[in-house]
Amino acid sequence: MDWDSDTESSDLTLGNMEESEVMEELESNGSSALVRADAEQPNRRLEMLLQSSPCGLIVTDALEVDHPIIYVNTVFELITGYKAEEILGRNCRFLQYRGPFAQRRHPLVDSSVVTEMRRCINEGLEFGGELLNFRKDGTPLMNRLCMTPIFGDDGVMTHIMAIQTFTEAKLNLGPLPGPPWKESRPWKLEQTSVGVNMCRLSPCGPGQSLRDFCGFLSLSDEVLALNILARLTPRDVASFGMVCKRLYNLTKNEDLWRLVCQNAWGTETTSLLERVPGARRLGWGRLARELTTLEAVAWRKLTVGGSVEPSRCNFSACAVGNKLALFGGEGMNMQPMNDTFVLDLSVAHPEWQHIHVTSPPPGRWGHTLSCLNGSSLVVFGGCGRDGLLNDLFVLDLDEPQPTWREVTSAAPPVPRSWHSSCTLDGTKLVVSGGCADSGVLLSDTFLLDLTMEKPIWREITVTWSPPSRLGHTLSVYGNRKILMFGGLAKSGPLRLRSNDVYIIDLNEEEPRWRYVTGSILPGGATPGGAVPPPRLDHVAVSLPSGSVIIFGGSVAGLHSPSQVFLLDPNEEKPVWRSLNVPGQQPKFAWGHSTCVVGGTRTIVLGGHTGEEWVLNELHELSLANSLEPD
Ligand SMILES: Cc1cc2nc3c(=O)[nH]c(=O)nc-3n(C[C@H](O)[C@H](O)[C@H](O)COP(=O)(O)O)c2cc1C
Repeated sequence: MDWDSDTESSDLTLGNMEESEVMEELESNGSSALVRADAEQPNRRLEMLLQSSPCGLIVTDALEVDHPIIYVNTVFELITGYKAEEILGRNCRFLQYRGPFAQRRHPLVDSSVVTEMRRCINEGLEFGGELLNFRKDGTPLMNRLCMTPIFGDDGVMTHIMAIQTFTEAKLNLGPLPGPPWKESRPWKLEQTSVGVNMCRLSPCGPGQSLRDFCGFLSLSDEVLALNILARLTPRDVASFGMVCKRLYNLTKNEDLWRLVCQNAWGTETTSLLERVPGARRLGWGRLARELTTLEAVAWRKLTVGGSVEPSRCNFSACAVGNKLALFGGEGMNMQPMNDTFVLDLSVAHPEWQHIHVTSPPPGRWGHTLSCLNGSSLVVFGGCGRDGLLNDLFVLDLDEPQPTWREVTSAAPPVPRSWHSSCTLDGTKLVVSGGCADSGVLLSDTFLLDLTMEKPIWREITVTWSPPSRLGHTLSVYGNRKILMFGGLAKSGPLRLRSNDVYIIDLNEEEPRWRYVTGSILPGGATPGGAVPPPRLDHVAVSLPSGSVIIFGGSVAGLHSPSQVFLLDPNEEKPVWRSLNVPGQQPKFAWGHSTCVVGGTRTIVLGGHTGEEWVLNELHELSLANSLEPD
């Protein structure tokens, strides 16, 4: 499948095969197309199709009794061996029966999964799960099934769409018995590179085309695009685009892709991406693909003009749209700084600019700087001339004469430094942990709603908190869920670098921290995948897809911590993966001096050496190809 017309092949494409070729053939010859092509060029097309792990696709009519199939794609036909004309109008459960003549569900099919499917179908819910199915010739297959209900404007479920990813089931059930089976077997089995036995189908009858038996395709373009495609995930829309030329053309529509991105990533992220120079030109379809597959992720080095004087370390940086803002830091002789600088990365030759502000906050380092409402900066806490701070200041960069305003509130968190902050819904500041007076580590979490006229700090009360820590990160994903990673954490009498992951869902009435993976606590000691070594003051980036990227920070014994790790907290059992990122990576990357500009550019300041903060040489981890300045 293709996400954009001028793209190269990826794991989501049909290998090296020209998509238009596939479309032409599917459209003009229906399910016979691949067979005919295969006969002409033995195995080539079929193998390419298989190597790209294509999915089966089925649509059922939810308004009819027993959800009859009204649409099935060619991949489904090829993998299962059932031809569309044999199964249109039937319920899908035949896949749980071993062969077309079986009288009942096979005993090895997990009945609890079937019950859950039935419940989701009856209640109009999405379903995702894996179960045993059978090809028409009786070969067992594992089916990773995702079902999505589709609702009409009146809220009535009209269709259910299902995407099936079939893999080989390593079960030896012996041959399928029975004479009718042998007689009716019109195809030949082949072992393929992905280990799934595939069937060659005989062509459909003369003059038969896909359109003849696809009730689904009789829906208008508008209904297909707005009622069905726009509600699917980027990956599913890409799958749909493979089915036939008409759906392929529908999935080329930029307005559709914008809706799909907005549904998948939320309005805030989409409007942030919309303001990125280059994103529009590249197109939403391509952007969705790159941010989902991370195929274009790369390091590059940037040189910028202007200067941040006097020189400093331990400042904090954050992104405000396409700009990067920097506040405070530790100057010569531990001098706490209180000046503000901005670097506009949307222009051809970015330069640091000192912002002249009235009433700046007291100087500090080890504070956090966050962005609110896409234009305001918020400073909280840190270490000042007279010790630790718990004050909060806001500055609107869009004002003609930017002014820092102190926001006072009863019962603020205790003064602290090297805590972690994040923002929710662009309006609420979350502060967690850090180091209090006399070096005590903290484990609390506070929330401040800055839309209130008189904002009040609220402690998020929980029955259990992750061990107290500093230098950790908080990443927001999936609306109001927060992922905490790493830091220097209390472990009995010791303080150890951590690689633990905890999550909390602030949508819940009584939010609670959950331990996802790590090595400090029992129960999380066997995290799968390529686990990032324990660290503090690292960089954490939330991707629109909900995954979180980690790199950099202080890692024991390592001087090149720019290896990039990825975790999807939405997975049932999240597993760390290591990303192989090409390009010129920084030698150092620290969380308090790194931020994501424009939603896709992670800018690392001062990654040149560990101590000298050379702020004219930046490194960028670009998440999408598109976003080089025009
Ligand atoms: C759109 C759609 C696709 C489905 N695809 C499959 C499938 O690929 N494999 C399967 O075993 N069941 C599939 N099912 C589920 C069965 O059709 C059936 O609903 C399920 O077995 C539970 O119902 P039952 O126990 O009453 O038969 C699908 C259902 C729907 C609505």
